[in-house]
Amino acid sequence: METSEIYEEAKQVWNPTKPEYWENLGINIVLDKRAGYEFWTKDGKRVINMHLNGGVYNLGHRNKEIIQALIEGTEKYDAGNHYFPSEVKNELCKRLLATAPKYMKYVYMNNGGGESIDSAIKFARYATKRTRVISMLEDFHGATGFAFMSGSDLWTDYFYTPVREEDFTRIHRNDLETLETILKKEDTACVLMEIITAGTGFQMPDKEYIQKAVELCHKYGAVFIDDEVQVGLMRTGKMWCCESYEIEPDMIVTGKGLSGGIYPMSAVIMNEKASAWMQEDGSTHLSSFSACELGCVVANKAVEITTRTSTGENVRKLEKLYHDGLTELQQKHNSFMPEFYQIGVIMGLQTSEPEGAVTLMQELYKRGVWAIRSGWNHSALQFKAGLLMDEKLAQETLNILDDALTACKKIYNK
Ligand SMILES: Cc1ncc(COP(=O)(O)O)c(C=O)c1O
Repeated sequence: METSEIYEEAKQVWNPTKPEYWENLGINIVLDKRAGYEFWTKDGKRVINMHLNGGVYNLGHRNKEIIQALIEGTEKYDAGNHYFPSEVKNELCKRLLATAPKYMKYVYMNNGGGESIDSAIKFARYATKRTRVISMLEDFHGATGFAFMSGSDLWTDYFYTPVREEDFTRIHRNDLETLETILKKEDTACVLMEIITAGTGFQMPDKEYIQKAVELCHKYGAVFIDDEVQVGLMRTGKMWCCESYEIEPDMIVTGKGLSGGIYPMSAVIMNEKASAWMQEDGSTHLSSFSACELGCVVANKAVEITTRTSTGENVRKLEKLYHDGLTELQQKHNSFMPEFYQIGVIMGLQTSEPEGAVTLMQELYKRGVWAIRSGWNHSALQFKAGLLMDEKLAQETLNILDDALTACKKIYNK
């Protein structure tokens, strides 16, 4: 089947409007062969993946070691049984706890990031016997129930979902005064935050603000949920983003890259306080595929690869290469890209135009790099390198970016 036929059929059976959006931008991808940080479209175009599905492909497409673990896993495992413990589940809990801050006690495993955010909110409500969830208007936590209600009004209104302000209070980042005023009511169960917001293009947060927000949260008896679905798993150069910002969350939510790009997995890593619900009755929160055993096999391998010394070293090498390269490109193309944001292999490219990142996304794609404009801010492009990417491929993305920025300057007469 040709790409155009697949798109036409998709409009009939999958989604009538989504394929059209990408077609109109000239980014009509149908994934074909994929390996490492590259994929080929059905039309034979080679593309370097700098989107990584938000970090799903942290370890690359079809990582050979992950595939091997999956194949071996299928010889022995299936979904398992969520009612009963098993060695492979315990192993994943132990691996995650070994990498997490020392005070973390338990791990609850799910399939998607939104589902784990929903779980974490339930755990926080039980732990505090309070209901209010404070989240940041700039953040995104998923499309499931509580995660969705912690997000933008645009989408809750779209889906006719009333959100009671006193249950889900959404405030702006960097507003400590409002945060404290609400926390003082002492009815807040949790403050939920992405330390670095993906949706606005990875502007680096003020460390003092983050630390103060956690301090206030704890001062007034609430639980801090650190959404690391995009920024955890070594993407900042440390296993967990909270280490980079020196904060002590009560729960870390991880997902995306935990899947090894193969098997949907997410998890809530929690401290003693957050685990109160399971101290009372651990059978009250469950799902059929929680801690799916085959998923645990894959996630165990993903965590093992992520925590290797060589992986950390590669991230530091890439961090420097990109920092130097982007500094040069920012100087050269200052009129269109006045700024960039970076920590580890997480990068945001700030353009000077309101829709500049959409144009940059198109120009990059024409030249063989796939990177996405930010969801809430079309002036900033998310530029995400994989943990295991080699320097040659990374340099190629910078060379292509140079060309794409030159093209954007022409388009905008800069
Ligand atoms: C920061 C963050 N949290 C949570 C989620 C939800 O994860 P999932 O799409 O796996 O439900 C996402 C997804 O993009 C995310 O970026």
